[in-house]
Amino acid sequence: MVKMDTRPPTLAPEPANAPAADAQPAGRGAAPLLYLDNVSVSFDGFKALNELSLVIEKGELRTVIGPNGAGKTTMMDVVTGRTRPDTGEVFFDGTIDLTRLDEAAIANLGIGRKFQKPTVFENLTIFENFELALKSDRGTWRTLFAMLSGDQRARIAETLSTIGLADRQYQIAGTLSHGQKQWLEIGMLLLHDPQLLLLDEPVAGMTDHETEQTAALILSLSGRRTIVVVEHDMQFVRSLGARVTVLHEGSVLAEGSIDHVQNHPRVIEVYLGR
Ligand SMILES: Nc1ncnc2c1ncn2[C@@H]1O[C@H](COP(=O)(O)OP(=O)(O)OP(=O)(O)O)[C@@H](O)[C@H]1O
Ligand SMILES: [Mg+2]
Repeated sequence: MVKMDTRPPTLAPEPANAPAADAQPAGRGAAPLLYLDNVSVSFDGFKALNELSLVIEKGELRTVIGPNGAGKTTMMDVVTGRTRPDTGEVFFDGTIDLTRLDEAAIANLGIGRKFQKPTVFENLTIFENFELALKSDRGTWRTLFAMLSGDQRARIAETLSTIGLADRQYQIAGTLSHGQKQWLEIGMLLLHDPQLLLLDEPVAGMTDHETEQTAALILSLSGRRTIVVVEHDMQFVRSLGARVTVLHEGSVLAEGSIDHVQNHPRVIEVYLGR
């Protein structure tokens, strides 16, 4: 469901540690990490992406909103190599053309993507999920039975504490709450130390408290890496305090601070017209 939160800012205060939208490096001449140039994708003649151009700077936290069917997930599919654009180019870190690479090669470049539905191994503990995520890195089944190195153990411990699940590392993943499973999955991505993290609706189905904790987690990760978050929850988007891109019918309708886009006449029209 798409809901545009029209409550006054006083009801949804920005956390003190949230960077102001203006503090984002976009447009300040920083090097772009991701550059979509005129990307179009059609499904049976329907344009899911329509000459979409988008620039994400290195180290930027960006939120992407837009009504259902706006093309948000398709945009992530194009970046991760799941969907090939009909036209346009997608550059990563300068000159690497992602449209020429397959999904595995793109993941190996340091692009991690979280789908909306958690896909953790329900019968394994949190620790075992992490162990598997690290070892499957090497690609062969034999390495699954190898001992973890000291570095790998340290990496797991650090990530467990980042996602706030250190005291639950031996809990079976299937018994975690929906929110905890989402954090586990984010943790499994973090183990690979991605340069670019793409999160598709990370707080869908979460309680308010879990949503707040997820915002704090994402803010704690931002800066050190580049993060693109797609979400419908406007209070969550506001709490991230990041630059917001509004997609509509496969292209950018508006971009700027949350207040800028929420007061944008075309954005209001698109949301209210539904
Ligand atoms: N594989 C596909 N085959 C056919 N149509 C598709 C496919 N993937 C997406 N579409 C269509 O493309 C449009 C954009 O879909 P997309 O999933 O990118 O939207 P979205 O912005 O992520 O929406 P939501 O907020 O509902 O997740 C939709 O009309 C969708 O039905
Ligand atoms: Mg989607």
